[in-house]
Amino acid sequence: MNIIIKTAEQIEGIRQSSKLAGEILVYIADFVKEGVSTGYLDQLIHNYTISHGAIPATLNYSGFPKSCCISPNDVICHGIPSEDVILKKGDILNIDITTILNGYFGDTSKMFIVGEASENAVKLVNATKHCLNLGIQQVRPGNYLGNIGYAISRYAISQGFTVVYEYCGHGVGIEFHEDPQVDHAARKNSGPILKPGMIFTIEPMINEGKPRVKVDETDGWTARTVDNKLSAQFEHTVLVTDTGYEVLTDVSDEYSS
Ligand code: MF3
Ligand code: CO
Ligand code: CO
Repeated sequence: MNIIIKTAEQIEGIRQSSKLAGEILVYIADFVKEGVSTGYLDQLIHNYTISHGAIPATLNYSGFPKSCCISPNDVICHGIPSEDVILKKGDILNIDITTILNGYFGDTSKMFIVGEASENAVKLVNATKHCLNLGIQQVRPGNYLGNIGYAISRYAISQGFTVVYEYCGHGVGIEFHEDPQVDHAARKNSGPILKPGMIFTIEPMINEGKPRVKVDETDGWTARTVDNKLSAQFEHTVLVTDTGYEVLTDVSDEYSS
């Protein structure tokens, strides 16, 4: 395992790219509504990314065909935006944006709700957001990386939900996916010790039913729940600072340490 400790210059570059990724999620919010296709949302995101001097990192990444991932309802992650997927009332969906700006990567995602969703869908979305927050609160120099996943899984299970363990967070910034792997279910005080200058994502995927994933055999990407129950995800890119954390993809000033 080679966890890159980023230089001040690299941190500034990743900060700018992450900020743009966060701004894209703010921009797209107004367009997420009943009757709109996920393919149309992808086009808007593609154009916004390019017009702000960046490149969508997912486009052609290992053959991925679109400029973001959009994962509705039972899709856990890596949903391919399509003109054939039309949003309807009560849908919950994750939009995942990764930008490359001046060579630096920023990666963030959040859930959207179309109109009003079922009580359990709302509970799942809120619990998943809280899981991300609990993970972020574990980020400080000297703490174990595993305590992020420990905090996340303990809370998810307490709410009657399950944690997807087949996909993880990851180091990010110089490349799309770097070391370390950030597990969202982990044992207390396990894994490497956090150090200032590390940058990684925390991106818990939380399921209403079984935790297992099945990948669509036709497109090779779309990861669904095995029982077709709901899944939710939120993601931020986080820097370990001298005293705690900085959430690089947060553009709402929601986090301060
Ligand atoms: N943005 C996703 C992540 O959080 C990765 C998407 S890779 C793709 O790591 F190929 F599916 F786009
Ligand atoms: Co990620
Ligand atoms: Co992502």
